[in-house]
Amino acid sequence: MCGIVGYIGPKEAVPILLSGLKRLEYRGYDSAGIAVISCGKIHSRKIPGKINDLIGVIAKEPLPKAGLGIAHTRWATHGAPNKVNAHPHSSCDRKISVVHNGIIENYLKLKESLISEGHRFVSQTDTEVLAHLIEKFYKGDLKDAVIEAIKKVEGSFALGVVSADEPDKIVCARQDSPLIVAEGRAGRFIASDVPAILEHCRRVVYLKDREVAVLDNNGIRVFDLNKREVRFKFDRVLMGAQSAQKGGFPHFMLKEIHEQPAVLKRLLSSGAREIRRFSYPRKIKNIVIVACGTAYHAGLVGKYIIESLARIPVAVDLSSEFRYRDPIVDKGTLVLAISQSGETADTLAAVREAKKKGACVVSICNVVGSSLTRESDHVFYTLAGPEIGVASTKAYTAQLAVLYMFGLELARSLKTISQNSFKASWKVLNSIPALQAEILKAHRSVEKVGRKHHKFGSFLFLGRNINFPSALEGALKLKEISYIPAEGYAAGEMKHGPIALIDEYRAVVCIAVSSRIYDKMISNIQEIKARSGKLIAIASAGDKAIRTHVSETIFIPKIDEFFSPLLVALPLQMLAYTIAVSRKCPVDQPRNLAKSVTVE
Ligand code: AGP
Repeated sequence: MCGIVGYIGPKEAVPILLSGLKRLEYRGYDSAGIAVISCGKIHSRKIPGKINDLIGVIAKEPLPKAGLGIAHTRWATHGAPNKVNAHPHSSCDRKISVVHNGIIENYLKLKESLISEGHRFVSQTDTEVLAHLIEKFYKGDLKDAVIEAIKKVEGSFALGVVSADEPDKIVCARQDSPLIVAEGRAGRFIASDVPAILEHCRRVVYLKDREVAVLDNNGIRVFDLNKREVRFKFDRVLMGAQSAQKGGFPHFMLKEIHEQPAVLKRLLSSGAREIRRFSYPRKIKNIVIVACGTAYHAGLVGKYIIESLARIPVAVDLSSEFRYRDPIVDKGTLVLAISQSGETADTLAAVREAKKKGACVVSICNVVGSSLTRESDHVFYTLAGPEIGVASTKAYTAQLAVLYMFGLELARSLKTISQNSFKASWKVLNSIPALQAEILKAHRSVEKVGRKHHKFGSFLFLGRNINFPSALEGALKLKEISYIPAEGYAAGEMKHGPIALIDEYRAVVCIAVSSRIYDKMISNIQEIKARSGKLIAIASAGDKAIRTHVSETIFIPKIDEFFSPLLVALPLQMLAYTIAVSRKCPVDQPRNLAKSVTVE
């Protein structure tokens, strides 16, 4: 996810663009850049790093006064977060400048064809293709050139375009990435999100997919891809600037919980291509997964996935343990390192240890250009966008999705799965975003349960089989944001000790979705009920029996147990969130924690 902003009007563009960019920094902060038009020329500044670094550069090398410009803060998807890959990107003649949020899926094919036509590229980004494509189609009308260019593009985009030959207008367009245009006394704006313009105006137009808008000093006009002018209406933005950065949600964590269907949809299209392209080693003796915290729980689910599909032994290690136990790793080992930040010191150390022993390292990571991605032999990005909340949510289910896709492709390359079951599995995966959205729509049922149980002094989370790690993850979510002692356990382990803990003061969350071991889970539930434990069940829609055992049940759509961790995670995240909010905890920044643990 990136942030774009543009301005045209009577005021000085640079300060307006920079302050607008600051309010979009939550969308990405790998690199930043700005371009303004003055005296018929485009002047730009770009840096790897945060917007404050860009402000510092401009203070040292001021840009000329200008009433028009575009700016960008980047969350890298293609190409490391360095200066050459920072936006804006230019055409060969440097007369066209583009900022973009999204993913151009067919950029390689377009780039090859543009190079064959003589275009010279300087970056590794997909975005630069847009600048050269618009240049190719430019015949004196920037709007027409943008329309012709985006007709060739597959993927998602919100883009802002300026041209030195038409210094009095900004052209913008969108497809699957958010983009607003706005106007007020100070001028006219484009932005990825309303926070960027809130200090100037509240009249916004939420551009629709495949619409192109032209902003100049006379007003705003909107066109369809047939170059026909279309009607549009202004909406009035009511939310305050701070809450708008969270998309209207009270916390980044809740916003990120709700982003999961969109993240998964993006992964199942763009991410899948990466995973299909990977050349799966023929001779893998064993797989070792190294990770910490939530990523470790994703790795535990990954063991069930990969062993079941590819029939290769998988060991899952806490990174902090792996590096000291002289692990059985050699050139026949594939090491999967999972990390949202890509900067977790223990996981980096584990990867270095694995490489010393000759293993091939593939990382599953959310941050392009992070240390882990630079030290891995191959990277599968989770494309979840910046995860601001310290408690990992959308990155977790994105890690799971990559593990499912990886397991399926590995099984296909090793011929341990039939073509039919491969296709059937993909069909289920593709149904998950809508099922997740269904769960999120029913959030009130989870909130009710959370509010009712927020005073409990301790929780136990129980799961079996592929949802045993889901129980561990549910416990971690709760404890790290509400500070309530919470333990995750394999339900079958109850009678080997934990059942001594059960009494009327302990809440027990049981993951009892439909599965071949459902009856075993019911027996555990009965054991807990017999000892007055306060039961909460996560069950499958249509399960009538569960209500005879448990009074508080959160239902999720029925799905093959094998894929259920992708759904079970959501009510557990929302339960933890509701309980923490009810206890007035600082959900996005829990005490003692950091988003990325860069110390050992
Ligand atoms: C998860 O909610 C926690 N914030 C924490 O356990 C986290 O998963 C862990 O520190 C690993 O971080 P990473 O994924 O960035 O490596």
